[in-house]
Amino acid sequence: MIFSEDFMNELRYKNPIEEVISSYVVLKKAGSTYKGLCPFHNERTPSFTVYPNTNSFYCFGCQNGGDAVTFIKNIENLDYVESVRLLADRAGMAMPERGYDDSVEKLRRTVLAINRETAKFYFECLINKQDDGIGLKYFVGRKLSTDTIKKFGLGYAPDSFDKLKNHLRSKGFSENDMVLANVCSKSRKNGRAYDRFRKKVMFPIFDLRGNVIAFGGRKFPEDEGAKYINSSDTPVFKKSKNLYGLNLAKNSGSKTVILTEGYMDTIALHQAGFNNAVGALGTSFTADQANLLSRYFDEIVVTMDIDEAGQKATGRAIEILKTTGIKVRILQVEGGKDPDEYIKEYGAERFRILLDGAKNDIEFKLLGAKNQYDIKTDDGKLNYLNSAIEILASVGDEIARNLYAGRVSSETGVEKSVILNRVQRAKKSGERKALKKEFSEITRPKYSPNDVNPDAKKYRRAAYAEENILAVLMQYPQYAKYVFEKLKAEDFLTQFNKELYSKLQEILLSGKEFDISYLAENYDSKQIGRVIEINNKFTFSNDLDQIIDDCIKVIIDEKDKLRIITPSNMNDDDFLSALHREAKDKKGKNKNGRD
Ligand code: GTP
Ligand code: MN
Repeated sequence: MIFSEDFMNELRYKNPIEEVISSYVVLKKAGSTYKGLCPFHNERTPSFTVYPNTNSFYCFGCQNGGDAVTFIKNIENLDYVESVRLLADRAGMAMPERGYDDSVEKLRRTVLAINRETAKFYFECLINKQDDGIGLKYFVGRKLSTDTIKKFGLGYAPDSFDKLKNHLRSKGFSENDMVLANVCSKSRKNGRAYDRFRKKVMFPIFDLRGNVIAFGGRKFPEDEGAKYINSSDTPVFKKSKNLYGLNLAKNSGSKTVILTEGYMDTIALHQAGFNNAVGALGTSFTADQANLLSRYFDEIVVTMDIDEAGQKATGRAIEILKTTGIKVRILQVEGGKDPDEYIKEYGAERFRILLDGAKNDIEFKLLGAKNQYDIKTDDGKLNYLNSAIEILASVGDEIARNLYAGRVSSETGVEKSVILNRVQRAKKSGERKALKKEFSEITRPKYSPNDVNPDAKKYRRAAYAEENILAVLMQYPQYAKYVFEKLKAEDFLTQFNKELYSKLQEILLSGKEFDISYLAENYDSKQIGRVIEINNKFTFSNDLDQIIDDCIKVIIDEKDKLRIITPSNMNDDDFLSALHREAKDKKGKNKNGRD
């Protein structure tokens, strides 16, 4: 264990899980538990459950689970030690003096230090006009003011393979760490590090605490190659979990956020006085990003490209955003321009007008449908009506539904009551479908392909028995001695269960009761989720002794089968008897109607 048990007990005691989680998720009391919308996947009905009794959480939808530390780890994207530190700070506790393994935390600190030093270096190179000042010339050409350059900490990466590397080395950093931070790459020929960004204008990416966590570099117009290169994911950076400029936008005081597609748009908007702009980091918009935004804002205006890819991407982003409850509007910039170009040409005032006129998602979808067809023809009208009815059926608010049905009516000349009638019908079938989908998501087969325990698919019978045993141990530690005597970890067929069993041995044999938090250090939330699921899946009535014996027998049986059938040195007799046993087993199973 990294931390002492006393320390962890106090940490848990001072950080009740429902309090910790409710700073991120709206929780409603439901008996002895709390329910809320899961922050780790998108859902409309709450399947995220918090159990104050056992200091744990579990989501029936995405099967993530854990204790307060796991929760912080996932939601703040921190490592284990950092999460403990956050909770300790929250409770006003001092961290233990030393004596714990903080290698990951150290590594992250080193990477952050390298990033900070690198950002400073690039900024200096920009201001000191390295390479004839081409970096500064470029930004000035794009109408960025000195204030803006400073505010975003923009920089210039010189046209050299080793200037940054030498600078970082003079500050005492190792080449290895430079590569880990992804500001250098490693040569395949000689294994040496060299500068990753060369002759680029640089955009440092900050996290919410103001750390530099990554970089984007843009090429010059005259150069070949990709327009932007970005840091790949590092110990301190996950593209899908961050947004460019959020560190600034979150302090704008605005309840609305403007989402753009890139660095330059975000920067141009800030310079024009829209301090509430953020940029997606060149990936498709993710649920993590949506959740992040919904923590700080009530409304989002998505600016988008007019082209088809842009439309599709916006459509997907809207769906993701809607599930967080944030209000969504869509801003289409006229003339195929991006916000940066638009402001440069027409000024901030006209962009403000566009912004105020941004359409809500219903209008946006209706318009999209209308543009698909030629509604001057009857055929086009019919197609448009069918799409419009589907769109209106997904609108929850009755007044809005009425309003837009009226609009579609006057566009097509079909009576509003007829349209509303059809909308009602579509709504009913849509609701049924949605319910079915959500239900099947919750009850879908537990052994999904990228499961934490893929072996369970191969050895269903053994896995089932193993899980029974594990659940018994978690719920009735008094059976531990008995079980451990009869069943060794090596007898387990599936890797995940085997490891969990060893872990339980370690915990229970030292006289402790099982607690989810013992796993938080080494297990991720999917793995802990599985443990909680196993524990929830099995409840036992009276025949516990019998159940235990049966399960042990099944596990050992299945293990034997494996042992006999696999070795190539099997003699004919063994082979025949194994074959026999297989056949008998199959018959037995069929009779019981199992599997
Ligand atoms: P400018 O052309 O300088 O105005 O940049 P932009 O932000 O308008 O670029 P664009 O609209 O073409 O792309 C939007 C965002 O996608 C950029 O800010 C980058 O984050 C990302 N991006 C664009 N081109 C590339 C590329 O070639 N590679 C990668 N990895 N990302 C890119
Ligand atoms: Mn642009």
